Amino acid sequence: HEADAYRTDLMTITRFVLNEQSKYPESRGDFTILLSNIVLGCKFVCSAVNKAGLAKLIGLAGETNIQGEEQKKLDVLSNDVFIKALVSSGRTSVLVSEEDEEATFVESSKRGKYCVVFDPLDGSSNIDCGVSIGTIFGIYTMNHSDEPSTEDVLKPGNEMVAAGYCMYGSSCMLVLSTGTGVHGFTLDPSLGEFILTHPDIKIPNKGNIYSVNEGNAQNWDGPTTKYVERCKYPKDGSPAKSLRYVGSMVADVHRTLLYGGIFLYPADKKSPNGKLRVLYEVFPMAFLMEQAGGQAFTGKKRALDLVPEKIHERSPIFLGSYDDVEEIKALYAAEE
Ligand code: AHG
Ligand code: MN
Ligand code: MN
Ligand code: MN
Repeated sequence: HEADAYRTDLMTITRFVLNEQSKYPESRGDFTILLSNIVLGCKFVCSAVNKAGLAKLIGLAGETNIQGEEQKKLDVLSNDVFIKALVSSGRTSVLVSEEDEEATFVESSKRGKYCVVFDPLDGSSNIDCGVSIGTIFGIYTMNHSDEPSTEDVLKPGNEMVAAGYCMYGSSCMLVLSTGTGVHGFTLDPSLGEFILTHPDIKIPNKGNIYSVNEGNAQNWDGPTTKYVERCKYPKDGSPAKSLRYVGSMVADVHRTLLYGGIFLYPADKKSPNGKLRVLYEVFPMAFLMEQAGGQAFTGKKRALDLVPEKIHERSPIFLGSYDDVEEIKALYAAEE
């Protein structure tokens, strides 16, 4: 058989999605064009992240975003690249970014049938120390041809048609679902192509890792406190879970997806809706977890059933292995 290094049946992300789309005879390749522009943005950010230290791309941009966070140069640069790539794709009508206070409404000559919500650079606090960061995105379709409005993105996550993230770490990996499972693609820098390396990712039903910022423990509510207690001092004689917390949602979720376990960003007294944003952090990761056989819970309901009222709305989130999330659901149910 051919040496693996020179396999010729390169399953690039574009070819993979074209295969997927061929199941929808009416599709005219719009999604493939949209995705190729998202991929372009990810390649650009990957390259910028890899030379951030050298290209003086670390540090603050001197602005503050709607989240009240000081924007890093890479936050702003990544946002600009994705907005421009998505608008120029001619396949989008509404864009929501963590870094822009208002939604972007594409001018009519360039409008398309998709709406993209995205976090151009997730884990910004880790940029300057070289720890993995990422990009997160979710995709809705417009189901009307009138003027686009925020109504087109203030929809429950269960109406998303696709979601994914790109992690800029030791390798650059793009993890995507278009509703038929979760697939991982690794960037081959020598080709500039994302190659399918992790087909049909399934999260283990149970894991032995919990991932939370223990620094907020004094502010947690009862069920979260009880759950974390159980992770550390199991009653049933099972081994204690390991704690792994990177502080970039993309990195913590990617590890959870591959190794199993649970990631939680709970509500706390200071922030009753937690910290993570519904449209471009909670929904895409919840979509992926469900597609991989896991689940995502807000403390009150299935995360994908949330109906956001504001584009930067936040929600507590508990996501990961199916059985692990079941445990925290039972603790919240007992609290009702
Ligand atoms: P962003 O950098 O896009 O603002 O997101 C940061 C988020 C998320 O990546 C991570 O899970 C969380 O902030 C970490 O928050 P704490 O530092 O409060 O634990
Ligand atoms: Mn931020
Ligand atoms: Mn983020
Ligand atoms: Mn961000």
